[in-house]
Amino acid sequence: MKILAINGSRRKNGNTSCLIQSILAPAVKGGAQIESIFLGDYNIDACSGCEGCSESWECVIKDDFAEIIKKFDAARGVVIASPTYWYSVTSDMKRFIDRCYSLIQFPDSRKEWIAKYQRTEKTCVTAAVCEQSDASMMGNTLSLLTDFSKDIGLDVVESVAGLGFFEAGRIKDDHELLQTAEIAGQKLFDRLKQ
Ligand SMILES: Cc1cc2nc3c(=O)[nH]c(=O)nc-3n(C[C@H](O)[C@H](O)[C@H](O)COP(=O)(O)O)c2cc1C
Repeated sequence: MKILAINGSRRKNGNTSCLIQSILAPAVKGGAQIESIFLGDYNIDACSGCEGCSESWECVIKDDFAEIIKKFDAARGVVIASPTYWYSVTSDMKRFIDRCYSLIQFPDSRKEWIAKYQRTEKTCVTAAVCEQSDASMMGNTLSLLTDFSKDIGLDVVESVAGLGFFEAGRIKDDHELLQTAEIAGQKLFDRLKQ
């Protein structure tokens, strides 16, 4: 059982990393095979809107994106998380999401699409962090991650929001939130075991 965690932060010991660790804790305990990646460690160019992927399910840009998609293909569970940068996901995460345009096809009309991962029973938890305690300051970070994940065919079982964390790792002090994250991770792991 493979689980892939995708982190949009470049702070290796940041709040998003801590939140991901708590989400993954039940699966780690249960012996799942986990891989955690930071998008910032990969060279992912911006989508050019060329439509070169429109029938092939493959992006034509030759960089590290294909390597991540291989990991995505192999995983049954996925955790997708990002800090909030200006009311949305980080630019690393946004470039990755844009390139995932290659994971959907529009065979009949532009109103409906089919997704590469639909009926693959891939299960997902999304998570987001921001500095301010007012939820409006998180902007669309969490909803974007969740809508994107559903659009590419993932079954999103939980979404976790961490509000009010600025310094890297400060989220570790919030035991209640980390417990909520673990419960979300347990749900993910239970679903994968079914
Ligand atoms: C460029 C930049 C933009 C940010 N924009 C927001 C924002 O719009 N709203 C907010 O509440 N926090 C914002 N923050 C704060 C981060 O979301 C916060 O520090 C978060 O804990 C960072 O997560 P990390 O430790 O995983 O990197 C911003 C931080 C940076 C560096």
